[in-house]
Amino acid sequence: MRTKTRWYQNATIYAIDVKTFADGTGDGVGDFAGLTDRLDYLAGLGIDCVWLLPFYPSPNRDNGYDVTDYYGVDSRYGTLGDFVEFVREADRRGIRVLVDLVVNHTSDQHPWFRAARSDPDSKYRDYYVWVDDPPEWPDPDRGPVFPGEEDAVWSYDEEAEAFYYHRFYHFQPDLNVANPDVREEIRKIMGFWLQLGVSGFRVDAATLLIDNKGGLESTRLDDPHGVLRDMRRFVERRGDDAVLLAEADDDPRNLASYFGAGDEVNVLLNFLLDAYLVAALAEERAAPLREVFDLLPEIPEEGQWANFLRNFDELNVGRLPKSYQKTVFERFAPDDEMRIYGRGIRRRLAPMLAGVSGSEATGGPPDESGGDRDRIELAYSLLFSLPGTPLVVYGDEIGMGDDLSLPGRNAVRTPMQWSAEKNGGFSTAESEALVRPPISGGRYGYETVNVADQRGDPNSLLQWFSRLIHARRECPEIGRGDCELLDTGDPAVFAHRMVGEENAVVAVHNLGESPTSVTLSLAGDPIRLFGRDGGVEFERVETGEWRFELGRYGYCWVRIR
Ligand code: NOJ
Repeated sequence: MRTKTRWYQNATIYAIDVKTFADGTGDGVGDFAGLTDRLDYLAGLGIDCVWLLPFYPSPNRDNGYDVTDYYGVDSRYGTLGDFVEFVREADRRGIRVLVDLVVNHTSDQHPWFRAARSDPDSKYRDYYVWVDDPPEWPDPDRGPVFPGEEDAVWSYDEEAEAFYYHRFYHFQPDLNVANPDVREEIRKIMGFWLQLGVSGFRVDAATLLIDNKGGLESTRLDDPHGVLRDMRRFVERRGDDAVLLAEADDDPRNLASYFGAGDEVNVLLNFLLDAYLVAALAEERAAPLREVFDLLPEIPEEGQWANFLRNFDELNVGRLPKSYQKTVFERFAPDDEMRIYGRGIRRRLAPMLAGVSGSEATGGPPDESGGDRDRIELAYSLLFSLPGTPLVVYGDEIGMGDDLSLPGRNAVRTPMQWSAEKNGGFSTAESEALVRPPISGGRYGYETVNVADQRGDPNSLLQWFSRLIHARRECPEIGRGDCELLDTGDPAVFAHRMVGEENAVVAVHNLGESPTSVTLSLAGDPIRLFGRDGGVEFERVETGEWRFELGRYGYCWVRIR
């Protein structure tokens, strides 16, 4: 049992892309003014922490992950003053703010790269990774991250007359973290945002950040994890309870290393659990979910997993066994246009789980239920009950859909749907001015799926989500307890117990469509905490034995004292 609880172990994190969340100035682009106005909505929903995707000045060729200035706010989203107002207003409502720290690479328009390419003697030359002749290709572990969109990791720069290294797009040159000056810059950037009141950083591409860039001798780090240890030390020194939440979609055998001895990252995005959870939903069997617990490492006492179902990128199923990949693709992404990079799905969760095809989603009749409500509830109830901290992306709480006509990952990055009014209430601007078109018409259009309508309806997904978030808040056992998997005797039913200091939470989930019942031995009388309204009943069948009746995709959480 872990003894200390830190804030991120019992929180719900909500991911926001400022540019598509709420436009407060009417120019068609989401901004800090709009976001600040919506803080009461987030507080009402029960959100403890928001993670902001990059909002820094950027040519925006990779949704802001191509930064040109680490110390500013892109003028389209507001000013630093607006940012500070936002952090203060969030704080007044008890909401913490994490910001994206994108220091594996910069934009090729960053002044550092401009100086580096134009002057071989500039101190910035060595901020990046250069060679005259790229090393032998291919190193299977160091290929382009976006196959099909990039076909090399070395690009020739005419001005520099040399090749530079980039694991992502060619306009995102990798920073050379082996250079102490670069490490100093990273500290300075973190210090700046901590001073402005953030509670930490979502460390972009942590795996590649500490990799031996380009496989060169000159970029080899003696102690790669020392980079993360340094960052953690700095954040603890300068921040008020601030943390590092890292993105590392790495081999399961490497995952424990990011936590170090409890002195590297505090929280790791749980890509592995995501893939196996989605496999369990597709297979309608508990087995994949049980298997992932054998793959996930033990983590230190203050460490935590951030569990999610979808994010703003592709849903990566590449680490699943082939048979699971096949089921996931067949059930959740049957059309080619729904897939990406040969390993992922570019859909939002609601249409994916409803088994709705792309053309049905945009052209089909409105569907008041927002797709298959029972399955959405099952998926999120499971997510919120698994050991870790849940993370949701904006719009999932109302069951937003995707727009497959948009290129690549932008399919899942459409504007938040606030109401049935013009542009879904996202912006008052004319449609030509919008940063991205909102989804209109069909099952998932803003006319049908929006916050305003769901707010007034006690049976809506939004209201259900708020109950889920509040239920999770009452269960610190889930955030910091020990997890035991329970035998249910039914392959479709997953049951687990999270044991806290004094109490335990038991959660039972029926991944299948057919109603079923299972009997569990529980040391104590269960008290119902959360479940589908009218959907689950349980009764004592013998001393210590309880039978749970689970409907179609039914679920239930109980507390045992
Ligand atoms: C991970 C981000 O989630 C993704 O959107 C981005 O393209 C890459 N990092 C590069 O920064």
